[in-house]
Amino acid sequence: MARQRALCRSLAVAATSLAAVVALAGPEKVAFPENYAGTFVRYTTVDKPERDPPIIRFMYINTDALAAAQPNEPLPHGTVVVMEDHEAELADDGKPVRDTNGRFIPTDEITNVFVQEKQQGWGAEYPEEKRNGEWEYAWFQPDGTRQADQSMDSCFECHQQVADQDFTFTTWPFVTRIKSE
Ligand code: HEC
Repeated sequence: MARQRALCRSLAVAATSLAAVVALAGPEKVAFPENYAGTFVRYTTVDKPERDPPIIRFMYINTDALAAAQPNEPLPHGTVVVMEDHEAELADDGKPVRDTNGRFIPTDEITNVFVQEKQQGWGAEYPEEKRNGEWEYAWFQPDGTRQADQSMDSCFECHQQVADQDFTFTTWPFVTRIKSE
């Protein structure tokens, strides 16, 4: 009897955690990648002069995905890409200061952390016109708190433009370039 009760209890626990997984909405499947700045590879930097205020974006990819990725191929399951926005350093005239290469100089001020993650089977519940393959998107504050009440629809819509690069603007071109050398 005692064993049966223990079994019932563990089944109940399993059912509860399964329900928790099923109930996760799109962006909540994506966990904040703790310590990405220390453990991921920072693979490119993009200056955005048209933004007000101007920003600099640091892009990071997890090392397992980078190791497994192949040129001109969809990124592997388990890929996590982080886009970390920084404010640019401004001169007295309000224009961004440029380094010797003409690039912006980031301040330590991180404004947003955007994440794109791909896992096997993700996105199956979306209609074909919304779906971005097996990718989900999430938006965090620098401390890892999720941005409240934000729809990720615009992420899906805009990244559709680069469906032929596995829905990534910078990651596919980067992987293809370094793995083809
Ligand atoms: C209007 C178009 C647009 C929207 C909306 C958009 N993105 Fe992007 N995203 C881009 C572009 C373009 C880049 C390349 C960097 C750049 O030029 O800013 C990018 C880059 C990224 C990257 C780095 C990997 C890559 O694809 O190059 C991540 C991560 C990302 N976006 C996440 C998001 C998330 C999360 C959202 C929604 C909250 C979102 N994006 C909404 C256009 C968009």
